[in-house]
Amino acid sequence: MLSFTAVKIQRNFELIISNFKERNDIMKMIVCVSEDFGIGNNGDLLFSLPPDMKFFRETTLGKVVVMGRGTLDSFPGGKALKNRTNVVLTRDVNFERENTEVFNTKEDILQYVSRFDSDDVYIIGGAQIYELFRDVCDEALVTKVYKSVPCDAYFFDIDKDPDWHLADCGERLNHEGTEFAFCRYTRV
Ligand SMILES: NC(=O)c1ccc[n+]([C@@H]2O[C@H](COP(=O)([O-])OP(=O)(O)OC[C@H]3O[C@@H](n4cnc5c(N)ncnc54)[C@H](OP(=O)(O)O)[C@@H]3O)[C@@H](O)[C@H]2O)c1
Repeated sequence: MLSFTAVKIQRNFELIISNFKERNDIMKMIVCVSEDFGIGNNGDLLFSLPPDMKFFRETTLGKVVVMGRGTLDSFPGGKALKNRTNVVLTRDVNFERENTEVFNTKEDILQYVSRFDSDDVYIIGGAQIYELFRDVCDEALVTKVYKSVPCDAYFFDIDKDPDWHLADCGERLNHEGTEFAFCRYTRV
């Protein structure tokens, strides 16, 4: 049985989530996936695709980026992304990293980001964080790479999820033999 405090925390959390939904104060996800929705392997990205990196940089510059500690560690030197507000989720209560805002719960992150315009808040991964925050997102910017490669971290199969709808998908592009497309999904 849940204690009185646990019930109170749970109610508080549900209230924050429902306030988010009512206010349309909902965030976006940005992700690059392989053909089978793989996103990473051994702590690294699957692809080094300059046009996608440019798209990611231009989309998130000056914005708030929410990530898991795993994704922060995957950046060069484990350093925060420049010119963005870096928000990191970890269970480690002593975790500190330069130029990051660190939180230990989803609830605390939702509270923190509510001070920003929701259009300016991007969930940038990885797998655990997409899974945890997908219910408070109403848009997903998905770069689809038409390749299948070994991976150990996945995004959900958004094409099969009835909650999501492919709003638009650009033409297939080609960078040095790698075919990809920039797609945008919205919540149904
Ligand atoms: N293709 C893409 O667009 C893309 C984007 C981002 C990342 N990636 C890839 O995805 C992989 C990383 O994904 P990942 O799932 O392993 O890691 P992640 O989601 O980035 O971070 C996982 C960490 O977040 C913290 N966490 C998760 N749930 C939590 C909760 N409920 N409360 C508090 N803290 C929580 C934990 O940190 P602690 O262990 O510190 O407690 C956990 O280890 C890498 O391969 C990366 O390159 C790909």
